[in-house]
Amino acid sequence: MVYLTRVEHFNAAHKLYNPQWTPEKNDEMFGKCANENWHGHNYELFVTVKGDPHPDTGFVMDVKRLSVLIKETVLDKVDHRNLNLDVDFLKGKFCSTENLAIGIWNQLKPHLPDGVALHCIKLYETPRIYVEYFGT
Ligand code: NI
Repeated sequence: MVYLTRVEHFNAAHKLYNPQWTPEKNDEMFGKCANENWHGHNYELFVTVKGDPHPDTGFVMDVKRLSVLIKETVLDKVDHRNLNLDVDFLKGKFCSTENLAIGIWNQLKPHLPDGVALHCIKLYETPRIYVEYFGT
């Protein structure tokens, strides 16, 4: 089993806000991410798939195909968008990096070719904060 990772980048706006809380409590929990008029992040996305190298190519997966898949199912929906307002797979969810990673997993998983499994979505919100999702 070999693990193959493609790194992508996007930026997007969001706001973390629980409408059932007071503005003070939102500020306390979410800090700058609760800013009423939105703010942006530069996200770094690591998509790791796993499988055995194919006998005809030596590849787990054609990485160009993986890149196109990430672009079509994820980046075209989130890059330069407002995560709270524009992204269908985040509708009704808190736009945390955690939920974004789960959403990206769900976008990609059905499109992987036979013999290739999704292993991990690693998503950096800042250079010092990231989440990892392994599907469970
Ligand atoms: Ni934020």
